Amino acid sequence: MNIKKTVGEAAVELIEDGMTVGLGTGSTAYWAIAKIGERVKKGLNISAIATSKESEVFARELNIPMVTFSEINEIDITIDGADEVDPDLNMIKGGGGALLREKIIATASEKLIVIVDDTKLVKQLGAFPLPVEVIPFGIESTRAKIEKLGCKTELRLSDKTKEFITDNGNYILDCEFPMIKNPEKTSQELNGIPGVVDNGLFIGLAHRVFVGRQNGSVNIIQK
Ligand code: A5P
Repeated sequence: MNIKKTVGEAAVELIEDGMTVGLGTGSTAYWAIAKIGERVKKGLNISAIATSKESEVFARELNIPMVTFSEINEIDITIDGADEVDPDLNMIKGGGGALLREKIIATASEKLIVIVDDTKLVKQLGAFPLPVEVIPFGIESTRAKIEKLGCKTELRLSDKTKEFITDNGNYILDCEFPMIKNPEKTSQELNGIPGVVDNGLFIGLAHRVFVGRQNGSVNIIQK
C-alpha cells in the first residue's frame, strides 16, 4: 500500500478545467504531480506554478503547462505535503527545504489542500525540527538570536561537508524547540530576526487536509 500515492491522487480529484494549480514539493506531492500529468495527458486544461525547482522540472517532464506569477492573478488550488499537522490545521513544513516558495504560493492560493499520511498528525507542533530559511550573510549572529528563543539549531547540510542551499540561495537552520506551544508567537519572533527569511510554520493556511491511512482510506479534515 503506497499511502502517499493514494492520498496524493485523491486530492487531485479537486482539480477542474481552467484552474491555476500550485504544485507542492516532497515525496507525497510527487504523486499528486504525477496524477496531474496523467490528467493533462487525457485533456485536462490547467496551468501550474511550482513550489520548487525540483517540482517544476518534474511537471515540465510531464508536459504540465507552467506559468509564472507575472502571468496570473491568483492560484485556485495548491496541493502540498507537510511534516506535521496539528488539530487546528497549523503545520510545520520545509522538510524538503522548499518552505519559502511553498509559503509564497500557499498565501497566494484560494485553497491550500494538504496531503499527508496519518503519522504526520500531532497534538502539538514541534517534535519535527522547525526549518528556518536564513540568508548566508551573518548566519552566526542570526543563529545566536534564534537560539535565544529557546531552541537548538542545526545547519542543514546536503552532504557531510556542504551546506544545503535552497532554491533562493539561502541556508536552512533546523530548529529543535522543546515543543511549540504558541505557533503564531514563535513564527512572529523568528521572522522578526534580521537574516531570517521565513520559517516553516504555516498558520491558518490549510483549507483541507487529506489524511491517508494504512488501510488505504483517505479522511478529509476541514476546519
Ligand atoms: C518541502 O519543503 C516540504 O514542506 C514538504 O512539503 C514536506 O516536507 C512533506 O514532504 P513529504 O511529503 O516528502 O513527507
